[in-house]
Amino acid sequence: MSLKRVQVELGDRAYGVLIGSGAVGELSSLLPERATRVLVVTQAGIPFDVLPLLGSRNVRRHEIGAGESAKSIDTVMSILDALGEMGATRNDVIVSVGGGLVTDVAGFAASLWHRGIGVVHVATSLLAMVDAAIGGKTGINTRHGKNLVGSFWQPRAVICDTDALASLPASEIRGGRGEMAKYHFLTGDDLLALGIDELVARCVQIKAEIVEQDEREGGRRALLNYGHTLGHAIERESNFAVSHGEAVAIGLVFAAKLARRMGRIDSSRVEYHERVVRDHYGLSIDLPKALSHDRLVVLMQGDKKALNGLTFILDGPRGCEVVNGVDEALVREVLAESEVR
Ligand code: GLY
Repeated sequence: MSLKRVQVELGDRAYGVLIGSGAVGELSSLLPERATRVLVVTQAGIPFDVLPLLGSRNVRRHEIGAGESAKSIDTVMSILDALGEMGATRNDVIVSVGGGLVTDVAGFAASLWHRGIGVVHVATSLLAMVDAAIGGKTGINTRHGKNLVGSFWQPRAVICDTDALASLPASEIRGGRGEMAKYHFLTGDDLLALGIDELVARCVQIKAEIVEQDEREGGRRALLNYGHTLGHAIERESNFAVSHGEAVAIGLVFAAKLARRMGRIDSSRVEYHERVVRDHYGLSIDLPKALSHDRLVVLMQGDKKALNGLTFILDGPRGCEVVNGVDEALVREVLAESEVR
């Protein structure tokens, strides 16, 4: 078994990401030595049963619900109650086993219990491996939007056991591909040219480099939200029928069309976006017709990046950057242009 390891260099909070077939076998060695209690947070149907890997520690399994409605304060409270019931101290640890929903919610609970305990993420979806489990963003939704409440809480370690991907439905793989297309535009890398372990490792490395420079999203980390302003709004407005990665794919091409209308890029660069997202990563680029543009605009105005009206990450002569105060009428025109004909 040859595993890849990418280090996220964050000083005294640095951690390793272990990638490859069988990586979950290393779980026990990655837990803090002083942790005697382990709360495993997972969902029904997740491929790994990590309990037999945790030795003689006091281990409890806590299952949370599926779907975006489970990304809630009630779910966080259920985890905190489980920690309380097992008598967890600040030396103890949460192990999250699942996709981005599980790692986001379990990470948030870890950041709250006794003002912060250790968490190790075992990412089981492509999206969690290439994005959600890396970089310490945790969060839950509120009725006002997605991921509006959360914390920055870096894990102690992340495991990306690529054996988990074999059992994933095609829709989950498409979800991960949306984030890969995003990295493609940020770096120019053709990620599909890589084998699966190399692909995950490269995505982790791209993300780690950005997080190391800007852990709390004061600047450069915002670029990881390329395609996400409209993407998050589509997820919400479709009632999550359009998955995160699929929504980001539409958001990437929308952002390119908007950038062209603002004179930041030319038509050939928009066509490049369309080719990369649709032809290379195999994702739809059309905005579904059923979505209300009024609601999409309201949701985009509530985006976390928005400080001054509508805010997008847009391509341009200096590459991608945050652009504030984008004209609403223009956004509406580009929404109309982006719909399925
Ligand atoms: N998923 C975007 C970030 O972690 O910053």
